[in-house]
Amino acid sequence: MSQQSLIPNIKACVFDAYGTLFDVHSAVAKHIEFLGDAANQVSNIWRTKQLEYTWLRSLMKKHVDFWQITRDGLDYALDASNITDEKLRDDLLKAYLHLKCYPEVPDTLAKLKDRGLQIAILSNGSPAMLEAVVKSSGLEKLVQTILSVEEVAVFKPDPAVYQLAVDHLGVAAKEIVFLSSNSWDAVGATAFGLKVAWINRFDQRPERMPFQPVAEIKTLAELPDLLES
Ligand code: LAC
Repeated sequence: MSQQSLIPNIKACVFDAYGTLFDVHSAVAKHIEFLGDAANQVSNIWRTKQLEYTWLRSLMKKHVDFWQITRDGLDYALDASNITDEKLRDDLLKAYLHLKCYPEVPDTLAKLKDRGLQIAILSNGSPAMLEAVVKSSGLEKLVQTILSVEEVAVFKPDPAVYQLAVDHLGVAAKEIVFLSSNSWDAVGATAFGLKVAWINRFDQRPERMPFQPVAEIKTLAELPDLLES
């Protein structure tokens, strides 16, 4: 979207990790020669099941960390695609620790940091997963704070997760802009009270929910111009 009002009074930029900073489909893309025609199906089912299991476990109050959830989602996806290769399974899981970041991410974070804004990640990922992927994509000097849901043992969009950003960054909810390409996460963070920009990377329709993000952009590169200086 081009004509958007500027977002005023922002002190911190908080990013969702998977799908927003990091391309979740880059794990399967790395092993495409072994997966062939099944690659897209495996990647899509893996991501879908991974998210479903976060919602199910949160509702059932049976938390396990996102590494376990990611394994379970992958096992479902491989089974649904009739793939039983243990080595491939291990390689795909390992690749999740080295996902590629989207191309515009390093420059965008550097620009925001130069403007004196706090930069944080708030993610379902476990601390070890997030540290690994931030390091392998060379973002460790740009991301000052990594916040994982493990601290509250429940997944997004539970409000306790978004509260972590307020508690750790020492700024008010309305001074935080939260960025997510996951529309349900954008809606959840809006319902909590953060200012949200939805990164609509995949040309999706808006959710039919009464908690609409204040902005919608195509890539993170549009973010610096969206924040009033
Ligand atoms: C995360 C998921 C929602 O990083 O992508 O929290």
